[in-house]
Amino acid sequence: MPCPSRSDELVFFVNGRKVIERNADPEVTLLSFLRKNWILCLTGTKYACGRGGCGACTVMVSKRDPTSQEIRHFSVTACLVPICSLYGAAVTTVEGVGSIKTRLHPVQERIAKSHGTQCGFCTPGMVMSMYTLLRNHPQPSEEQLLEALAGNLCRCTGYRPILASGKTFCLESNGCQQKGTGKCCLDLEENDSSSLCRKRDICTELFVKEAFQPLDPTQELIFPPELLRMAEDPEKRTLTFHGERVTWISPGTFKDLLELKAKHPEAPLILGNTSLGPAMRSKGHFHPILLSPARISELNVVSKTNDGLTIGAGCSLAHVKDILAERVSELPEEKTQTYRALLKHLKSLAGQQIRNMASLGGHIISRHSYSDLNPILAVGNATLNLTSEEGTRRIPLSEHFLAGLASADLKPEEILESVYIPHSQKWEFVSAFRQAQCQQNALPDVNAGMRVLFKEGTDIIEDLSITYGGVGAATVSAHKSCQQLLGRQWDELMLDEACRRLLDEVSLPGWAPGGRVEFKRTLVVSFFFKFYLQVLQELKKLIRPFPVPNSRHYPEISDRFLSALEDFQGTVPQGVQRYQSVDSHQPLQDPVGRPVMHLSGLKHATGEAEFCDDIPMVDKELHMALVTSTRAYAKIISIDLSKALEIPGVVDVITAKDIPGTNGTEDDKLLAVDEVLCVGQIICAVVAETDVQAKRAIEKIKITYEELEPIIFTIEDAIKHNSFLCPEKKLEQGNIEEAFEKVDQIVEGEVHVGGQEHFYMETQRVLVIPKTEDKELDIYVSTQDPAHVQKTVSSTLNIPINRITCHVKRVGGGFGGKIGRPAVFGAIAAVGALKTGHPIRLVLDREDDMLITGGRHPLFGKYKVGFMNNGRIKALDIECFINGGCTLDDSELVTEFLILKLENAYKIRNLRFRGRACLTNLPSNTAFRGFGFPQGTLVTESCITAVAAKCGLPPEKIREKNMYRTVDKTIYKQAFNPESLIRCWNECLDTSSFHNRRMQVEEFNKKNYWKKRGIAVIPMKFSVGFAATSYHQAAALVHIYTDGSVLVTHGGNELGQGIHTKMLQVASRELKIPMSYLHICETSTATVPNTIATAASIGADTNGRAVQNACQILLKRLEPIIKKNPEGTWEEWIEAAFEQRISLSATGYFRGYKAFMDWEKGEGDPFPYYVYGAACSEVEIDCLTGAHKKIRTDIVMDACCSLNPAIDIGQIEGAFIQGMGLYTTEELKYSPEGVLYSRGPDEYKIPTISDVPEEFNVSLLPSSQTPLTIYSSKGLGESGMFLGSSVFFAITDAVAAARRERDIAEDFTVKSPATPEWVRMACADRFTEMIPRDDPKTFKPWSITVA
Ligand SMILES: Cc1cc2nc3c(=O)[nH]c(=O)nc-3n(C[C@H](O)[C@H](O)[C@H](O)COP(=O)(O)OP(=O)(O)OC[C@H]3O[C@@H](n4cnc5c(N)ncnc54)[C@H](O)[C@@H]3O)c2cc1C
Ligand code: FES
Ligand code: FES
Repeated sequence: MPCPSRSDELVFFVNGRKVIERNADPEVTLLSFLRKNWILCLTGTKYACGRGGCGACTVMVSKRDPTSQEIRHFSVTACLVPICSLYGAAVTTVEGVGSIKTRLHPVQERIAKSHGTQCGFCTPGMVMSMYTLLRNHPQPSEEQLLEALAGNLCRCTGYRPILASGKTFCLESNGCQQKGTGKCCLDLEENDSSSLCRKRDICTELFVKEAFQPLDPTQELIFPPELLRMAEDPEKRTLTFHGERVTWISPGTFKDLLELKAKHPEAPLILGNTSLGPAMRSKGHFHPILLSPARISELNVVSKTNDGLTIGAGCSLAHVKDILAERVSELPEEKTQTYRALLKHLKSLAGQQIRNMASLGGHIISRHSYSDLNPILAVGNATLNLTSEEGTRRIPLSEHFLAGLASADLKPEEILESVYIPHSQKWEFVSAFRQAQCQQNALPDVNAGMRVLFKEGTDIIEDLSITYGGVGAATVSAHKSCQQLLGRQWDELMLDEACRRLLDEVSLPGWAPGGRVEFKRTLVVSFFFKFYLQVLQELKKLIRPFPVPNSRHYPEISDRFLSALEDFQGTVPQGVQRYQSVDSHQPLQDPVGRPVMHLSGLKHATGEAEFCDDIPMVDKELHMALVTSTRAYAKIISIDLSKALEIPGVVDVITAKDIPGTNGTEDDKLLAVDEVLCVGQIICAVVAETDVQAKRAIEKIKITYEELEPIIFTIEDAIKHNSFLCPEKKLEQGNIEEAFEKVDQIVEGEVHVGGQEHFYMETQRVLVIPKTEDKELDIYVSTQDPAHVQKTVSSTLNIPINRITCHVKRVGGGFGGKIGRPAVFGAIAAVGALKTGHPIRLVLDREDDMLITGGRHPLFGKYKVGFMNNGRIKALDIECFINGGCTLDDSELVTEFLILKLENAYKIRNLRFRGRACLTNLPSNTAFRGFGFPQGTLVTESCITAVAAKCGLPPEKIREKNMYRTVDKTIYKQAFNPESLIRCWNECLDTSSFHNRRMQVEEFNKKNYWKKRGIAVIPMKFSVGFAATSYHQAAALVHIYTDGSVLVTHGGNELGQGIHTKMLQVASRELKIPMSYLHICETSTATVPNTIATAASIGADTNGRAVQNACQILLKRLEPIIKKNPEGTWEEWIEAAFEQRISLSATGYFRGYKAFMDWEKGEGDPFPYYVYGAACSEVEIDCLTGAHKKIRTDIVMDACCSLNPAIDIGQIEGAFIQGMGLYTTEELKYSPEGVLYSRGPDEYKIPTISDVPEEFNVSLLPSSQTPLTIYSSKGLGESGMFLGSSVFFAITDAVAAARRERDIAEDFTVKSPATPEWVRMACADRFTEMIPRDDPKTFKPWSITVA
């Protein structure tokens, strides 16, 4: 087969437009092609992870199926799709679906109008997943909707509104969100005791479904006829695409494929690229030739026979799922055991996009240790049909094949043509098990396939196979154990022996990569126990119609044990959002208090909303990539740049020597000089013509180090070395020592709270454009604090601030992570711009972003609490340590906030709170939504739970007993009125029917041994604002133009929290004009100077006042004109004002709240006001695996008079889900050398759509007022975060129930996140006791705990 040296033309379609690439490079992905191709410029498709794990880059690909000849539409993650794989395909991106300029697609309209967009960075991906679903199923079921969206991450919304928009297309959706409760929300008032439900002025609709345009499938883009003709081309010639380094060969016939494979045996076959792609990207794997069998129909053949099913290796996993589902529906149950086991895992394996792309062959051949299918295929006796030029042969998918033994493997010139999976038979049972950090879209920690065959009519084991994934370098077979159990009866004795043997055979060293070793060992036996019970159940069913003498041997399964058999099923969340309607006298045109859609909602949904990296390439632009330290604490001996500078396209390398001004601060350098303080510290930056060149050059820079000591990573070590960033912060009241002497009981405990990664969907990015005159610079940056970027660039370049203009159009999520860090990236890029004279674009990879930027501080807390037997707490002493990392950053402030907020909702007379920030050799931790409160208050609430356990009372009683009740003063002597706190608490108890459900939980727990439920209700008093007066100021600039249109500018940044929408609501009310007259263009340091970071939940408050002030000034100026012509129109008044030389531009200013704190005296008024709330959550845990499902959450929040209930409820829900992530799944893992392992969505699990509680209700407390804020509306940006802890405490409640039943001490060390690992190991039982334990002194663990 000749391989021509000239490239063929790559032909495909994008949004109905033909694309011909004459020099297609196999290394270019569809994502970068769409975004960077200067003709297409389709920036609606976003980059957020580059690994297929987040769905931000989802597009639809349509292809003609070579076997069925039908057109298939499927969603894919464009970041993993090589353009060369698209020959003959039609790609639809978000821009091809609809546009605000032409016609919106119903999907786009509905996601925006249902308030499913906040920052909007995930929205195009969501739209495309939903759109593809509708192309295939115009009226999908809710389950299909959930499945379609499970591969798309959103960090802002909490998913509920996104699902709500999708449900409007679903067949069964009737608009009532209380589905499943048997009653409609509209009928609730009759039965519900809660005042929230009884009140007439409470709304439960955030959008009007009836107003949506209908879906008309006939309006969709058709599959291009030219592509149909191409697909029918009988010539089927081989296509070759030569890139700079890689050649892509796509044969047209099977024969050619075999010939090519013989010629290039080392060349991999590239199918979905979901295994090859990530390996090439992050492991540096390189393949100069890639063979693409995409056009070979032989690899997609499916054939059904009487004894089994043969599936072509080229079939996608999504297709495999459909094939198996069909077969399961056709055949009797006994024949489909293996198929059902495979189906079970195919439901949770990755997201829909990956299942659409990944092939069965690629999956099998990749032999990932975590493979979900290989363990089942192996026990199911699947065989692999191999083909080469030499002929065909069959090999078993055996343990030897999985272990990669050459004798059992494919030969280099062979390909996998198809896989044969035999039917199961009567008396044979096959099951699959898997446990991951979360239920959906997460790689498994451990999985297993198990099969047993009994001698007919008996419970004697004739054949047994067990394989495990995740417990070694490959799928592991427990062959020896299985052999030894042959001939045994299926009873308790066999179970015990099997567990011992399995643990012996599937041994996992203490240092095993991936960690979680004891958990994994426990799962090995827990899974087998589940299998044992399942088979026992099935045996009983089988034996009933055919009584055999042996039947009396079958052990009885107690009803209480049956719960071990049920898996948690993904359920489509339901819920109600309640808020107070506006006064009936409020003019219709006045938008304040109404659920107005996010200003950019529609643009988010069409991809037309421009983010920093969507700004088109500017003339002479260069790209920057950062070089970071690989050592935690070391002297830099030398930096050799020579090899990097030799790489074509590399222009320069920026080091500290190039900085004309100051290089950060003495303790926190922008670019390292002489020494490094953590892995991930920035040392220098490469500037090149393309980002690819810049990244390649990084690999070539050689840095030599000399290790320094002591290296400190953990809080424990920092305390030992007295390594702190700042002095201790302390608050004290009453006489704590004396109080401890008088109490009935004292409890002491420890709490560990892990850190958290911001995981904003838009990574850090900046574009610096130097101007030709006066050293001026324009900086487009994704930041919460443009003034800080401006100031830092000024001092770094040593030029006055007035030469630098920072622009922020919108930010793709910040959560505190874009307050301090963007200044560092802005300054380094600015040095590059100054040195080279070129514009510099710096876009951080997800991996680098996670490595460099730090996140929420891990915390270690110790408490000592003294209380009376009735639960009244008399004395509380808490000492907290946070892991600040290697520089101060915000750590001192976080410590202060932590201490100030520790008391939460409780009035305790004798208190002592102390806090310290530890100096360690980790990347510096920084601001994060809640600023210390979510970590610190977990200590307080854990302490309450511990008191409850000691008093034998439910925790809610202790909470109630110790809660502030009347006007009072906090520990720092700030007066406040807790009335709304009590109201939230009571409403929450009422709306959630807490007491009833507490009884139901107890009933459930009595009846179920292996599943336990837990319920918790948590109160919250959250202080809003910065503890410094100077931060409570804001300015706005409002221009009225002569056509009557108004441009509003203010100092807040649009991070997704809807601040611009709220500001226009304010301006609309003040100027008494519709919002359509008003516009906000961007936040810029040139229009509003010296701004304060948009943070601390107070942005809308302060900037709203400034906008109000500006509008009032303008209206005052217009008053005489309006008076003179009261019947006139706005346009007429403006025209008259202009004629009369009245200024139509005004600056508004808000000289905000006073706030101070005297730490010497421990007194102050640090916060303008408090937000109160309460949340009740109920969960069910699986004691055998540690998994949990969230049954229900009810939140009541005191927003006072919400400026925009849709936005505020969105903030509460989004923060709650983010908090839930902090407390349950988000786990940062560091190596013993201080290297962050978890650097992407594979290893770091933020909540997915499947993690939303099955019932999720949010209510804003009605009739609440505050004179302090604009229109009496409170800032809600952060507070909801802590309410996520209600899920944590519900989990610990369930764990406590399990431990009580097992007679294990109830007081266990509280550790957040409550991951499946923690839950499983806390629910100790015979299986946890069985596992071997390692002496930690005998090995170096894979990871360390830094909290
Ligand atoms: C975000 C993400 C999440 C994931 N989650 C999971 C999960 O939860 N559980 C799980 O088990 N897996 C998961 N995976 C892995 C996924 O299942 C595999 O990557 C996938 O099945 C590989 O198929 P592919 O077609 O993409 O292979 P490719 O990447 O195209 O190829 C992989 C390898 O297979 C070889 N190959 C492919 N076809 C043949 C053939 N016919 N004959 C010979 N060799 C062949 C190639 O030469 C290559 O070496 C995930 C992957 C991603 C990216
Ligand atoms: S950017 Fe492609 S999946 Fe995340
Ligand atoms: S709206 Fe989904 S990530 Fe911001």
